[in-house]
Amino acid sequence: MAVPLLWLLTPVCLLVAFAAAQNCTVAHTFGGDDTPSFFSSLQSCASRSVIFAPNTTYNILTPLVVNDSDITISILGNLSLPTNVTAIQAAVNASASGFWFYFSGTNVTLLGSEAEEWGWINSWGQQWWDAGNQIARPHLLGFAVTNGLVANLKFYQPIAWCVSLAAALNVLVKNTVIDARSTGSFPFNTDGFDATGSNLLIEDSVILNGDDALAIGQGSIGSKNITFRRAYVGYQSHGASIGSLGKDPSQPANVSDVLVENVFFENTLYGARFKSWEGGTGLARNVTYRNIGLQNVTFPLYITQSYVDQNDPGGQRFDNASVVMQEFTYDNFWGSINTYHPGDGSCVSDPCWYYEPGADGTQAILFRCNPGACQNFNVSNINIRPQSGVPATIICNNPPVNSSHPGYACINGTFIPQY
Ligand SMILES: *[C@@H]1O[C@H](CO)[C@@H](O)[C@H](O)[C@H]1NC(C)=O
Ligand SMILES: *[C@@H]1O[C@H](CO)[C@@H](O)[C@H](O)[C@H]1NC(C)=O
Ligand SMILES: *[C@@H]1O[C@H](CO)[C@@H](O)[C@H](O)[C@H]1NC(C)=O
Ligand SMILES: *[C@@H]1O[C@H](CO)[C@@H](O)[C@H](O)[C@H]1NC(C)=O
Ligand SMILES: *[C@@H]1O[C@H](CO)[C@@H](O)[C@H](O)[C@H]1NC(C)=O
Ligand SMILES: *[C@@H]1O[C@H](CO)[C@@H](O)[C@H](O)[C@H]1NC(C)=O
Ligand SMILES: *[C@@H]1O[C@H](CO)[C@@H](O)[C@H](O)[C@H]1NC(C)=O
Ligand SMILES: *[C@@H]1O[C@H](CO)[C@@H](O)[C@H](O)[C@H]1NC(C)=O
Ligand SMILES: *[C@@H]1O[C@H](CO)[C@@H](O)[C@H](O)[C@H]1NC(C)=O
Ligand SMILES: *[C@@H]1O[C@H](CO)[C@@H](O)[C@H](O)[C@H]1NC(C)=O
Ligand SMILES: *[C@@H]1O[C@H](CO)[C@@H](O)[C@H](O)[C@H]1NC(C)=O
Ligand SMILES: *[C@@H]1O[C@H](CO)[C@@H](O)[C@H](O)[C@H]1NC(C)=O
Repeated sequence: MAVPLLWLLTPVCLLVAFAAAQNCTVAHTFGGDDTPSFFSSLQSCASRSVIFAPNTTYNILTPLVVNDSDITISILGNLSLPTNVTAIQAAVNASASGFWFYFSGTNVTLLGSEAEEWGWINSWGQQWWDAGNQIARPHLLGFAVTNGLVANLKFYQPIAWCVSLAAALNVLVKNTVIDARSTGSFPFNTDGFDATGSNLLIEDSVILNGDDALAIGQGSIGSKNITFRRAYVGYQSHGASIGSLGKDPSQPANVSDVLVENVFFENTLYGARFKSWEGGTGLARNVTYRNIGLQNVTFPLYITQSYVDQNDPGGQRFDNASVVMQEFTYDNFWGSINTYHPGDGSCVSDPCWYYEPGADGTQAILFRCNPGACQNFNVSNINIRPQSGVPATIICNNPPVNSSHPGYACINGTFIPQY
């Protein structure tokens, strides 16, 4: 009896061993941490293409930090962070980067699933938001890759900052869903894309969050050639932002060639937003926002060049300096201004962090430029009306200079387009 059994088993074992060597599917251990399995798959994978299998919920209980090149990672199942808050905090405290997923290297492709119910990264942010817990929160995904593609990824309730493209170079990100909607307390700092890199294209996104949907910062080498297009931005988002820039006056801002187009903002606090620090230095140049739809947005077009965070003021500030804004174009905006319930749930102080003296829910434009620091502006086709139906207004501190066609009268009062 034993002999035929062995006969049968031997080739099966050989087959299994052979398949295991070829298999780049990450093994899933019920209740265990699947991060080590990911690394063993990657190490033994001749094809350099590792797969989180469909129909499987993986536990990513420890940070997954990858510095490798010429690899493809497909997330066809769901990935779940620990539900244990303390365990995440301990891992974040122990990590150098603070990211739960971090990729660096060259030629890296990160793919999700096209199936609606799979390809999600679940972070269980709700319990953090409801507890008001802002201690040792992880940044979710860092993609500091040269020549990269990120497609079809979906994020559900990220604890805080979702995707960072800091130091990314030549990266395409498409078909992303970020759902940071809360059923309870406000989801603070749930930035969508922190895009501080160069040659970045982010397209076809749905972002429902509680901080900037897009924030283009300055990093150590600047940001250049960034396009954000075809997006729906909603919930209590803080819009598509440049900044904040110039926090450290000894680090000049260096941002150029930014295009934000074909974006719809609904119920958001800001739409097209620029923010630089009082006393900042450096330049943001050649920035275009065009074809922007808005519904129920509190501050549709917004600039401040004198931002200070009272709780975190940074270095010594000199109010005679500014990050200069050059060649800014705002073209073709339509929709409605939030007149009846301006602001959002992120207000926890009095006055609110976003309080603007004089604002009354009718401002299409709120441009607080410092003298001479807004240059070559071109504003056209702004068709935004307050929900109350009264004419749109503007708050304006200083007119742009070197602008042959600014497109607006710099006054405090009724918005007068200048064609
Ligand atoms: C790869 O491994 C997974 C999990 O260990 C297994 O379910 C799957 O059948 C394997 N695939 C192949 C082609 O061997
Ligand atoms: C996924 O799991 C469901 C239920 O567990 C099963 O019906 C289905 O066949 C599985 N699909 C695949 C592709 O394994
Ligand atoms: C990644 O590894 C390369 C060597 O392969 C090294 O030069 C580089 O500094 C590493 N990058 C990071 C972010 O660890
Ligand atoms: C949560 O994680 C901490 C730290 O790793 C551990 O001490 C604690 O027992 C865990 N709690 C639960 C409910 O598993
Ligand atoms: C993580 O560090 C913070 C201080 O930044 C500390 O308050 C917290 O107790 C630490 N948590 C763990 C689990 O190590
Ligand atoms: C990245 O891909 C390009 C084009 O396929 C190739 O020439 C280059 O060697 C790759 N770089 C690395 C670091 O593997
Ligand atoms: C995967 O995660 C998403 C988002 O949390 C969830 O809606 C979906 O049900 C999960 N899929 C499965 C099959 O558990
Ligand atoms: C700008 O970035 C896009 C997207 O990565 C790229 O296709 C294009 O070549 C870049 N343009 C320049 C001038 O580098
Ligand atoms: C600004 O950034 C560009 C590339 O993005 C770089 O070539 C240039 O040297 C930077 N300028 C300064 C002053 O840092
Ligand atoms: C401005 O930026 C756009 C990309 O958004 C680029 O195509 C264009 O060449 C840049 N213009 C100048 C004058 O640099
Ligand atoms: C407008 O947006 C505000 C803030 O997000 C929200 O409270 C309010 O319900 C929205 N109004 C409508 C009509 O959707
Ligand atoms: C508009 O009001 C602001 C105060 O909110 C003031 O600083 C500014 O000078 C006024 N602008 C004009 C054009 O009077």
